[in-house]
Amino acid sequence: MLDKMRDDENHYKNLVDGKWIDGNDNKTITIYSPIDGSELGSVPAMASEDVDLAIETAKQAQRHWRNVTIDEKAEILYKTAKILLTQKEELTDLMMKEIAKDRKSCASEIERTADFIRFTADTAKNISGESIPGDSFPGVKTNKISMVKREPLGVILAISPFNYPVNLAASKIAPGLMAGNSIVLKPASQGSLCGLYLARVFQEAGVPAGVLNTVTGRGSEIGDYITTHRGINFINFTGSTEVGKHISEITSMVPLLMELGGKDAAIILKDADLDLAATNIVAGGYSYSGQRCTAVKRILVIDEVADTLVEKIVSKMETLKVGNPLEQDVDIVPLISEKAADFVCELIDDAKEKGAKLLVGGTREGNLIAPTLFDNVTTDMRIAWEEPFGPVLPIIRVKSKDEAIQIANDSEYGLQSAVFTSNINEAFYVANRLEVGTVQVNNKTERGPDHFPFLGVKSSGIGTQGIRYSIESMSRPKATVINLYEQGED
Ligand code: NAP
Ligand code: G3H
Repeated sequence: MLDKMRDDENHYKNLVDGKWIDGNDNKTITIYSPIDGSELGSVPAMASEDVDLAIETAKQAQRHWRNVTIDEKAEILYKTAKILLTQKEELTDLMMKEIAKDRKSCASEIERTADFIRFTADTAKNISGESIPGDSFPGVKTNKISMVKREPLGVILAISPFNYPVNLAASKIAPGLMAGNSIVLKPASQGSLCGLYLARVFQEAGVPAGVLNTVTGRGSEIGDYITTHRGINFINFTGSTEVGKHISEITSMVPLLMELGGKDAAIILKDADLDLAATNIVAGGYSYSGQRCTAVKRILVIDEVADTLVEKIVSKMETLKVGNPLEQDVDIVPLISEKAADFVCELIDDAKEKGAKLLVGGTREGNLIAPTLFDNVTTDMRIAWEEPFGPVLPIIRVKSKDEAIQIANDSEYGLQSAVFTSNINEAFYVANRLEVGTVQVNNKTERGPDHFPFLGVKSSGIGTQGIRYSIESMSRPKATVINLYEQGED
């Protein structure tokens, strides 16, 4: 498929109105691999008039798409999933190079996306409306009934992040399409080759011209224009809290679904299975070098079991493989950019200066940061609160579960938390008090399975994702009220 997408100079184009086009002024962005700086290709840097065209096209196409039967839409999605799987090898290679994710995780992202797309089609086919009798409300006569169905919203702007360039684009596109909307996808610049590839797959599966369009370009340059565009009816954004807050400040009267940053805590109580906790902390904290919104980002452990837990975590960290994902099967990969690696190092330096005990790692080679673990982290350190989006974990020792809950809740974020305990009452005690979208009991924090609700509170998001939830978020109820009259009645 790649051969059809790029020209001899490795230039990729955007999908607008069923055609692959450049921006009006032919400006481009070059995409380099974070692994070795090699040039992977270029994409158009679309300007405002290109954005206008994509959105206008989407608006026109949606008028027809909304009336395509659910069954026909579903068939297109089933075909999309099928084609995606046939392209797994090629897309895995592209993704590895573009975002430096390890081979196994790239392949599983693609498989998970195919499952997601299929499940979305199945779910949409089974969403039915409801009819509400009027007489359940006091004083209403029996002859009124509200028939409620779901209507699309119009044009969805889908903005996706770098770290799941296929999955977090598809998880907006597929439910959006099944709800009868058209889509304008603005992928992360680093990740845009994968985003365009995904669009090609949807197109090959039969998504009609104009129903799915792509707009590449730096968020810092076209972001404000596209998010405040009058033709956009809904914004589905995944990315940093900083950008998410900015979008919510400059937009008005446009509904938003936002999945943002996190500082997920793993809380380990006295009676926890410490082997289980250590395994989950290492897998949850360090996979893809911690570049996951749901990565475990701090450990809050009861003092009495802290030494044993630390020993187990350190020993499990020895099994982490660090290096170049193109050369070997690794867990720790180079971070997405030099800027990202610089930021992580700032947090490491701050922790060291303020007296945290460095147990493992702390070193850097280019953008590759060794898996790093700090003990005796205190609440005056930046690593206690800030999201590194890198392979660094702080251990904060606490005296009680209530202290753990308080520190967990003092965060500006509220995505997920995990609690490790063998006592169900303790699990509920903690879970009921945590200010997050999801609490995992005896497991690492994670988004899936993808039909579960996934949401962040506080600075971690607005609205709820998850297959049925996403379809509902990108549609609205439409009520038709039938007023029945007996013959002869006025
Ligand atoms: P990011 O820098 O916020 O970028 C996300 C997307 O927003 C990219 O497509 C980016 O485009 C675009 N963008 C940047 N500035 C914009 C603006 N002013 N207006 C509109 N769009 C703009 O985030 P990232 O670095 O890709 O991802 C890492 C962050 O995302 C972390 O904080 C992580 O926790 C969060 N995240 C959250 C979830 C979740 O589900 N909660 C999932 C994944 C990631 P460019 O690439 O062109 O700048
Ligand atoms: O990076 C944010 C993703 O939503 C996390 O998904 O928990 O499946 O890695 P994940």
